[in-house]
Amino acid sequence: MEPVTAAIIYYSATGTVHALARAAAEGAEKAGAAVRLRRIAETLPDEVIDAKPPAWTEHRDASAGIAVAELDDLDWAEVVLLGTPTRFGLVSSQLKAFIDSTSPLWSQGRLAGKVYSAFTASSTAHGGQESTILALGNVFYHWGGIIVPPGYTDPIQFESGNPYGTSHVAGAGAPGEVALQAARHQARRAVDVATALKAGRAAVRPTAR
Ligand SMILES: Cc1cc2nc3c(=O)[nH]c(=O)nc-3n(C[C@H](O)[C@H](O)[C@H](O)COP(=O)(O)O)c2cc1C
Repeated sequence: MEPVTAAIIYYSATGTVHALARAAAEGAEKAGAAVRLRRIAETLPDEVIDAKPPAWTEHRDASAGIAVAELDDLDWAEVVLLGTPTRFGLVSSQLKAFIDSTSPLWSQGRLAGKVYSAFTASSTAHGGQESTILALGNVFYHWGGIIVPPGYTDPIQFESGNPYGTSHVAGAGAPGEVALQAARHQARRAVDVATALKAGRAAVRPTAR
């Protein structure tokens, strides 16, 4: 069987979600997937970012070499992990714009049947991490996806503490080993489920999506 394909697609303004995305990509690779790490295009003009705290420009410049997410990345992937900073308890507008561009794939049923999972960061501990991940769940329902959350399926989950998806309190600093391990675990689990699904579909209904 060909390796499962996994797209880790994220938006990050100051690097926190980017760090989680990299860890998720590592976890997916470890689980045997072919992985694409893709950043969501920035929609803010350069002059707006230049006026923000230095972390914004530093991260913009540091991540310039990472490929920007395209619809083809979603189409290609059997596993999709979406990552976003929490913005007023919701998904960032940059990721939402990408989601809103997926209608051509959705209308052909090409987003259905994939494994989906989500991760986030917020400044504060009760700043909306769960509501952001649950909001992404609404999108996955519309796409006909199979949502695979981390739950408490690994000891790291009892340390990181978010069964909905990996999350990090950015106000406490950059993600440490606990959050990074949780992201690796989340991606590994999503790939494991997708691998089992792929094998099962090949055996039972080769044309099923
Ligand atoms: C417009 C805006 C809205 C935000 N809303 C929230 C929020 O509702 N709760 C919270 O704790 N942090 C909020 N934040 C802080 C971001 O979640 C935080 O900076 C982000 O998780 C850092 O991720 P990044 O480094 O990947 O950009 C907000 C930041 C911005 C710019």
